[in-house]
Amino acid sequence: MSLSLRKFAAAALAAAISFGAAAEQTLKVGTEPTFPPFEYIDDQDKSNVIGFDIDIINAIAKAEGFKVEIVKMPFDGLIPALLTSQLDAAIAGMTITEEREKKVDFTAPYYDSGLSAVILKENAEKFKKLADLKNSRICGQIGNTGIDFAKKLSGNVAAFNTNPEAFLELRAKGCDAVITDKPVNEFFLRSQKEGLYAEIPEFAEVAQFGIAVKKGNDEVLKALNEGFDKLRKSGEYDKIYSKWFHSGN
Ligand code: ARG
Repeated sequence: MSLSLRKFAAAALAAAISFGAAAEQTLKVGTEPTFPPFEYIDDQDKSNVIGFDIDIINAIAKAEGFKVEIVKMPFDGLIPALLTSQLDAAIAGMTITEEREKKVDFTAPYYDSGLSAVILKENAEKFKKLADLKNSRICGQIGNTGIDFAKKLSGNVAAFNTNPEAFLELRAKGCDAVITDKPVNEFFLRSQKEGLYAEIPEFAEVAQFGIAVKKGNDEVLKALNEGFDKLRKSGEYDKIYSKWFHSGN
């Protein structure tokens, strides 16, 4: 091996073992962009994904000196794509669950969430609490924790590719409720001006969101956790949080 080749090989090895050390590495980050305010398509520029999660991953990348390429895919495709190394990470309002932790590693939690149900306002008297949905048809998104929870409540559950499709089904009275993360339900309610919908005033299953990486991908996990720590300490996290959750969004 010539000296320059040897140098190159050593540099490549160094880059491989210390992620983020080499300038401008690009991390492929998967998401499912129909989940506002966490990730959704920008109305102004349909090629752009925006949201809390996107700001968080971009700020982490900036703090750690790498670049991010956002890759859109179905929610239930994210973990398989991590397992097959098509993605380096996934940020998708993904709840840290024991089940998922068997397959992937999560960063420290970056957001506290939980589930709620949206119903039609005309049924507000009928569905006062989640338990009232017992014999009802509940809709949600494929592979979501909301679907698992719905199955505990009712034997009649329908899973759609996206939450917006589930909301359309609710509107068409094809289901009685949509169960998903409470901040997503509340963003939906605020975006609807006709006043057709209501939320059951009950909060189910406290959850925490984490960024997922392939099991054992410690370089990326470490860079993400380190970057996130920096955001917490610098106040950047709070800024991003209030941009998405305290400004009437
Ligand atoms: N928090 C729920 C879960 O982890 C829903 C996530 C849906 N995310 C999305 N980008 N569609 O299952």
